[in-house]
Amino acid sequence: MACTLLVTGGAGYIGVHVLAALVEAGYQPIVLDDLSNGDRRAVERVARFTGADIPFIEGDVRNERLLDAVLAHQARAEQPVAGVIHLAGRKAVGESVADPLRYYDVNVGGTVKLLRAMARHGVRRFVFSSSATVYGAAREMPVTERHAVCPTNPYGHTKLVAEGVLRDVTAADPGLSVAVLRYFNPIGAHPSGLIGECPQDVPANVFPYITQVAQGRRSHLAIFGDDYDTPDGTGVRDYLHVMDLAEGHVRAMQHVLRHPGLLTVNLGTGNGISVLALVRAFERVSGRRVPYRIAPRRPGDVAAIWADAGMAHRVLGWRATRTLEDMCADGWRWQRMNPQGYATPPEPVPSGIAARAVRGRRTVTSLVPLLGGHNEVGRV
Ligand code: UFG
Repeated sequence: MACTLLVTGGAGYIGVHVLAALVEAGYQPIVLDDLSNGDRRAVERVARFTGADIPFIEGDVRNERLLDAVLAHQARAEQPVAGVIHLAGRKAVGESVADPLRYYDVNVGGTVKLLRAMARHGVRRFVFSSSATVYGAAREMPVTERHAVCPTNPYGHTKLVAEGVLRDVTAADPGLSVAVLRYFNPIGAHPSGLIGECPQDVPANVFPYITQVAQGRRSHLAIFGDDYDTPDGTGVRDYLHVMDLAEGHVRAMQHVLRHPGLLTVNLGTGNGISVLALVRAFERVSGRRVPYRIAPRRPGDVAAIWADAGMAHRVLGWRATRTLEDMCADGWRWQRMNPQGYATPPEPVPSGIAARAVRGRRTVTSLVPLLGGHNEVGRV
């Protein structure tokens, strides 16, 4: 029987891609999400195109009674939760400056409550969504996991505090096994075009903004600064394909299922890409123009940051394999096929597109049930 994993925040942008990767790898995910920034229809779409049943529980990760009920239910059903992938959290830097207590409550308090519920039910395997934001304005590039941490905003502080909680609980309980994943900049979408990023408001991040400009929904991109000390003056980041990131979670879970202790690891490609280079790549791949204007620097931005991705390769055997062109092509396919996000009725994916997009990966087989999927997504 497939190993059952609880994915908190599993209806969000990263979460639904993690679900697809988990099913592909043979795991049985169950989702807990309060839908504050996720979409139940996204989970339903993953269930349809993978042919998997993905139980969905609508609820808050701070609700300990609910956590107890879910973990007890799974144990009674003889499908105990073997591990937790904890993605639920707030992630908007500006909002965290305006309302820091909410960030501490959800990101730190939520993690503590989840760990307590796991302890009560004997669940000892944990993968945590952290962020390269913990490095702040990094001094040496590429950034290794040993680089000093110094977040510059409340969001980053909450990620670092949660990392500290995980370090302390792992030290206190040698049977516990935790992987902290420091994400760089995930972009793009699943190659099926059925799931992707769906910002509720004006996109705060550069890639969904670019796709909306290309679609004609916004007139132009504002590039925040062209006077940084970078090759073309615009900010440099380590963009990675969201499916590479999702597969990194699978590798991290496989690691914690076998090895006790704490692992903290960067997930990035190791390549720094400027905003202008990203715009140019997107224009080439999509055949659309992306008009832009140079605007003042955005407060709090760093000039350049990219990962040393060596540890993920050495310890997890994981490496990002998709190119910048793949990220642009897959992100653009999602935007084109879903101009209204998940409110757009899903179209069947022509098999040629799916096959080209996945380039021989096993995913192609899991796209077959797409046309006739009929999975239930329900509440416990
Ligand atoms: N940018 C623009 N125009 C925009 C949006 C962004 O030029 O409309 C630029 C930024 O100035 C930066 C680059 O594009 O140079 C990337 O910006 P994003 O907002 O896409 O990503 P960030 O690197 O700022 O933020 C991401 C995550 C945060 C996280 C941070 C650090 O979104 O949650 O990485 O890890 F905190």
